[in-house]
Amino acid sequence: MILVLSSGSSGNALRKENAMSDYTVYPIRFWLNEREMYVEVRATQTLLELLRDDLHQWDVKMSCGQGDCGSCTVLLNGETRLSCLTLAVQAHETRIATACGLGDQEQLHPLQEEFLRCGAVQCGFCTPGMLMTAKALLAQEPHPTRMQIRAAISGNLCRCTGYHAIVDAIEAASQNDRNTEKEDVR
Ligand code: FES
Ligand code: FES
Repeated sequence: MILVLSSGSSGNALRKENAMSDYTVYPIRFWLNEREMYVEVRATQTLLELLRDDLHQWDVKMSCGQGDCGSCTVLLNGETRLSCLTLAVQAHETRIATACGLGDQEQLHPLQEEFLRCGAVQCGFCTPGMLMTAKALLAQEPHPTRMQIRAAISGNLCRCTGYHAIVDAIEAASQNDRNTEKEDVR
């Protein structure tokens, strides 16, 4: 259910309007962590709602819902996107990558390895978005300076770590022998 707030004829009273008329659905196809998906989405549905509510992709975090925190960051065709500000229909014919697709317990991604080793994960809420931002950075710039790392993650808020360990981890991942991001841009 979507609640639309608008001013009434008096100009003051807020009117709650149930937008149940938003029934039009659009079929889309995309690849989520390399898995082909066919789904139907509503015109106003965000990518974040699609990923979490419909596809139960819980690694994509919902926090501010308005583009301020970066916790919902995913990669769309290799570029960072705030899924809370992206319409689900925009995912049609794209490749979406989330933290879940980075590695698994047997073979962690170098970024995951270094986040753990450097103590860059505390509560972990920012971590999936931070990892995806870091992945996009290393794909663009395999050996970034600490300044470049700080600039890249400036849109990802972390309330626990103070960022230092996160910068350490991304820098260490860039020096990790298994850092193959440059060949892995998608
Ligand atoms: S939930 Fe998307 S930027 Fe905060
Ligand atoms: S580790 Fe808690 S918000 Fe970053």
